[in-house]
Amino acid sequence: MLQALRPSPGGLVADGTIGGGAHAAALLKASAPTGRLVGCDRDAMAVAAATARLSEFAGRFEIRQGNYAELAEWLGPESCDGVLLDLGVSSPQLDLAERGFSFQQDGPLDMRFDQRQELTAAKLINEASAEELAGIFWRYADEEQSRRIARAIVSEREKHPLQQTAQLAALIERLKPRAGAKTHPATRIFQALRMAVNDEIGSLQRGLEAAVKILKPGSRLAVISFHSVEDRVVKEFGRRLSRDYELPGDVDVPELRRPRPPLLRWVSRKAMKPGAAELRENPRSRSAQCRVLEKL
Ligand SMILES: C[S@@+](CC[C@H](N)C(=O)[O-])C[C@H]1O[C@@H](n2cnc3c(N)ncnc32)[C@H](O)[C@@H]1O
Repeated sequence: MLQALRPSPGGLVADGTIGGGAHAAALLKASAPTGRLVGCDRDAMAVAAATARLSEFAGRFEIRQGNYAELAEWLGPESCDGVLLDLGVSSPQLDLAERGFSFQQDGPLDMRFDQRQELTAAKLINEASAEELAGIFWRYADEEQSRRIARAIVSEREKHPLQQTAQLAALIERLKPRAGAKTHPATRIFQALRMAVNDEIGSLQRGLEAAVKILKPGSRLAVISFHSVEDRVVKEFGRRLSRDYELPGDVDVPELRRPRPPLLRWVSRKAMKPGAAELRENPRSRSAQCRVLEKL
């Protein structure tokens, strides 16, 4: 992250997913004594944890509870020297059973990043139609058995509502026995539900647009994603803004291309991935990949 964003004294970095403040602390340390950081997180627990963790940098940072999709409403155009988005769920969120993100510990089917929000995973699981659920599992997790799982959920909830993570995990395990697979059969379904509850792809699309607005020319956006659905959105966004034309619609018809200068460039063609030492220290980083774009 330090390599990608090159924080320096006097600069301002926006951390859209401050979490426990680990990246923010490293960025503030590397930009001492005058580098500043603004951060946000949808989760009040993360805002409190990051504020405590960063106390040694008091006066050089500001943190808000909010969605990074709204960064451009908070920060002025071309005001930042770097933007960081570290997508998805954090370790503290996963490890707290009562947040309902994990199928490994029993807790309420909650999964909200922002607990002020009305929609929970339980509400979605118990109220959405089978078609809606199947769409969620397919779109957000490429789940091949999305229809079958959605139908089973609907018939199970007719017997009794699904309220707990363990109920849902057990139901999926019955439908998709492990059969030597490396990951738990519920991994994808939990991922998809979490993404739907928090509208993660919608936020990501708006957040990427916001990041480009607030970045100064020559400065960089780094996005860490954890699975192919997120990564696809980042790649497609980078591809679209690094072209020297725009399209009037979604289909690329060469005659309709409107020339314009590219707005971004890829800092490297390939995503950065954790090395052996980082994997040993932090095994949860195994599926992380970081893509870096520079504003032109
Ligand atoms: C992987 S963690 C970030 C960890 C952080 N980089 C650190 O160093 O501790 C992801 C965080 O992003 C938050 N988050 C997810 N979507 C968000 C959004 N749209 N806006 C703001 N925060 C979001 C989650 O609540 C979670 O705390």
